[in-house]
Amino acid sequence: MKNDFLQFHKPFISEEEVDEIVDTVRSGWIGMGPKTIRFENNFGKYIGVNKSVAVSSWTAAGHLTLEAFGLKAGDEVIVPTMTFPATAEIVCYFGAKPVFVDVEEDTLNMSIEALEKAITLKTKVIIPVHYAGQPCDLDEIHEIAQKYNLKVLEDAAHALPALYKGKKIGTISDVTCFSFYATKTLSTGEGGMICTNDEEIAKRCTIMRLHGINRDAWKRHTESGSWYYEVVAPGYKYNFTDLQASLGLPQLKKVDAMWESRKRIAAKYTEALKDLDTIQLLTLKPDRESSLHLFPIRLHLDKLTKNRAQIIDELRNLNIGVGVHFMPVHQHLYYNESFNLRDEDYPVATAAFPRLISLPIYPGMKDENVDKVIDVLIDMLTKFKK
Ligand SMILES: Cc1ncc(COP(=O)(O)O)c(C=O)c1O
Repeated sequence: MKNDFLQFHKPFISEEEVDEIVDTVRSGWIGMGPKTIRFENNFGKYIGVNKSVAVSSWTAAGHLTLEAFGLKAGDEVIVPTMTFPATAEIVCYFGAKPVFVDVEEDTLNMSIEALEKAITLKTKVIIPVHYAGQPCDLDEIHEIAQKYNLKVLEDAAHALPALYKGKKIGTISDVTCFSFYATKTLSTGEGGMICTNDEEIAKRCTIMRLHGINRDAWKRHTESGSWYYEVVAPGYKYNFTDLQASLGLPQLKKVDAMWESRKRIAAKYTEALKDLDTIQLLTLKPDRESSLHLFPIRLHLDKLTKNRAQIIDELRNLNIGVGVHFMPVHQHLYYNESFNLRDEDYPVATAAFPRLISLPIYPGMKDENVDKVIDVLIDMLTKFKK
């Protein structure tokens, strides 16, 4: 990569993380151990939730949650189409059916109207996705969940930290799952966290994340010693490790400071771009605060002489890396063919996709680079304006 190329994302790793990794490696214990437990406890305290179970990814967290909910083949789970495919694939693991719903135009979060229409007698779970980090309409979602007796699993892969009506995301629904993937607001390379106030769900997820082993069993068999364990179900290999916790522990201490940096960058972008008639910014609703994990813009293609691919190429030629979040899941081959899905049923997401570009936003991004993105983008949109 060229030296002056501005990457779409860079994790914010300092000497503290390096020292913590070295300490872990020197300790001789690099698997799941005391640092994982400390990370779970500190994370739970930060969020304000009783139970936090650390696992290998959001995907693992979501899978374990649906298992703990008792999802069965033939059940239905409602998922917005504007998400990463992981949100839907965890449903398919059970032979259950992901039922995709469209999103609302201003935020690209799950449409409440579409959600209620999609409910059938087979619906068991709703998975709202906090797109780009902005919380969904959780009051309305919970009202519907109560009315139809459904569980809510929040996909908060983008939403650390975020607030809904003053409450931290992670404290509101039956379960909230976070991602610590390389590009996320807190990164452990790969990783995820299950947050819940339900002791039984936390217990089941803890057992199932490591081969279905119940470590409490040794207490009932004291004569066998603490090496004793029992397998109570065919579980998974989804555990976290102390190496990952070595990145997570120092990152967690600065999670609010990293949020402040993203807020500063987002404010600069918003101020500079909000009045352009060639793009549309996401609307941020007043009663909630986004983590600002992503800064997506939508091109007004009818006012431009170039399409999204050409604009991305042009930005790349000018040393600016961007992303696209997301191709709607109903358009991906597997989902499209298996569930016979049609664009007409998802008009908002379908129209948004070819217009979407995510601008770089991360702590550690220098002011001069934010200014460069703004200047290059404004120049380009002026040059390509019809
Ligand atoms: C909305 C959303 N959900 C789930 C995931 C999956 O997260 P992980 O890679 O930790 O499994 C991602 C990852 O990019 C995501 O963006």
